[in-house]
Amino acid sequence: MTISRKIAGFLSQASWIRKMFEEGERLRAIYGADKVYDFTLGNPDVEPPASFKEELRRLAANPIPGMHRYMSNAGYEETRRAVAEVLAEETGLPFRARHVIMTVGAGGGLNVVLKTLLDQGDEVIVLAPYFVEYRFYVDNHGGIIKEVTTGPDFQPDLAALEKAITPRTKAVIINSPNNPTGVVYGAGCLGELGRLLDKKGEELGTTIYLISDEPYAKIVYDGLKVPSVFQFTRNSIVVTSHSKDLALPGERIGYVAVHPDINEGDLLLEGLVFSNRILGFVNAPALMQRLVTGLQREKVDIAAYQEKRDLLYNHLVSLGFEVVKPQGAFYLFPRSPLPDDVEFTRVAQKYNILVVPGSGFGLPGYFRVSYCINKQIILNSFPAWAQLARELGLS
Ligand SMILES: Cc1ncc(COP(=O)(O)O)c(C=O)c1O
Repeated sequence: MTISRKIAGFLSQASWIRKMFEEGERLRAIYGADKVYDFTLGNPDVEPPASFKEELRRLAANPIPGMHRYMSNAGYEETRRAVAEVLAEETGLPFRARHVIMTVGAGGGLNVVLKTLLDQGDEVIVLAPYFVEYRFYVDNHGGIIKEVTTGPDFQPDLAALEKAITPRTKAVIINSPNNPTGVVYGAGCLGELGRLLDKKGEELGTTIYLISDEPYAKIVYDGLKVPSVFQFTRNSIVVTSHSKDLALPGERIGYVAVHPDINEGDLLLEGLVFSNRILGFVNAPALMQRLVTGLQREKVDIAAYQEKRDLLYNHLVSLGFEVVKPQGAFYLFPRSPLPDDVEFTRVAQKYNILVVPGSGFGLPGYFRVSYCINKQIILNSFPAWAQLARELGLS
C-alpha cells in the first residue's frame, strides 16, 4: 500500500461523498444543469459585496511596495487591529491586535487551535449533528472526538454534555449558526454552557476551552443577532472566516480570536502563531488580509438568503416534511421520511434532487438541504419535491 492505512480508511469511509458528486455530474450531463436540483454543497452562489470589488480594484491600481512578501506569522498588524476593534465594540472586552491571528479560513484556524491545544489522546467534544471535518481535524492532532447528540430542536443537551466530560476533555467545539441544522444558540444556552465548562474545569483541575466555530455568524434571519461566546466564559476561542459572510470561500481568509482574559493567554497566543507557521500555512493570504481590513462590518445580501430559506422551508413543510426552522446559515436539516437516510437520498435522486444524508453529519435519520444556490433552481425543484413527498406517502 502506498498511502497510509489511516488515509486509505478515511477515503473508503468517505466514498459516498465522491459517489454523490459523481451522481450529480452524471445527472447534469443527461438532464442539463437547470433540471438537476443539487442541494449538496455549501458553496455560496452569491458574489462578494461591491465594497470588496472596489477595494480589490483600488489595491490593484495602487499596489503597495512589498505587498506580496511574507509578514509576521500572525498576519498584518493593521488587519488584526481592525478585527479586534469590532470585537471590542461587540463585546465590551479589551481586544487588541495581539488577540487575533489571521488564518487560512476557518478550517485552517481550527487546525491551528487544535494543534496548539491537544496532546495525544486528549478529547474534544462535538455536538451531533456537526460539520464532518471536525472528525478529521481532531484526528490530525492526535485528539479523540466525543460526540454528544443535541436535544430538542438541535439545541445543546447540557446534561449529556456534562456526562461526556472527563479529565482528558480539552475542548468543546460549538458551531452557531449551525451547519447542518441552521439553528442558533441563544444567550441563555451559551451562559449555561460557559458556566458548566468553567465548573467542570475547576473540579477537574483543568481548562476546558470553548471553541466557537462561527463562519455563519453574520448569516442570520428575522433580525436575530448571534450572542458572542466571549461574554460567557473567559476560556473561549472564536474561529471564523469570510468564506460565507463575504462569499470568499476560495480565497481562504479567516481568523482566530482569543478571549483577552483566557487562561495562560500569552503562552496560548505564542503557540497559535507558531502552529500557523509549522502547519505550513506560514501566514494567511497577504492580499486577502489587506482587502478584508476595511470590510469587517460588511456582509453579503442576507435578505436573498432569507427569501430562499422561506421559500424552501415553507414548501417542504407544506408537503409534510418535518423541519426545524433554521434561524441562520443556509441549510435545512429535515427528518428523513424513511428510517434509512441514505436510502432516502437514493429515492430523492430519482427526482433529480440531491441532498446529503444526516449520517454524514453524525446524526442518521435526517438529511441536509443546502440552499445557497440559484433561486430559480429552488423554484424549479418544487414539483420534484412534491412528487418525492407523494411517493413517500407524505402529503
Ligand atoms: C461549520 C463550518 N466550519 C468551518 C468551515 C470551513 O470554512 P472555511 O472555508 O472558512 O475554511 C465550514 C465550511 O463550510 C463550515 O460549514
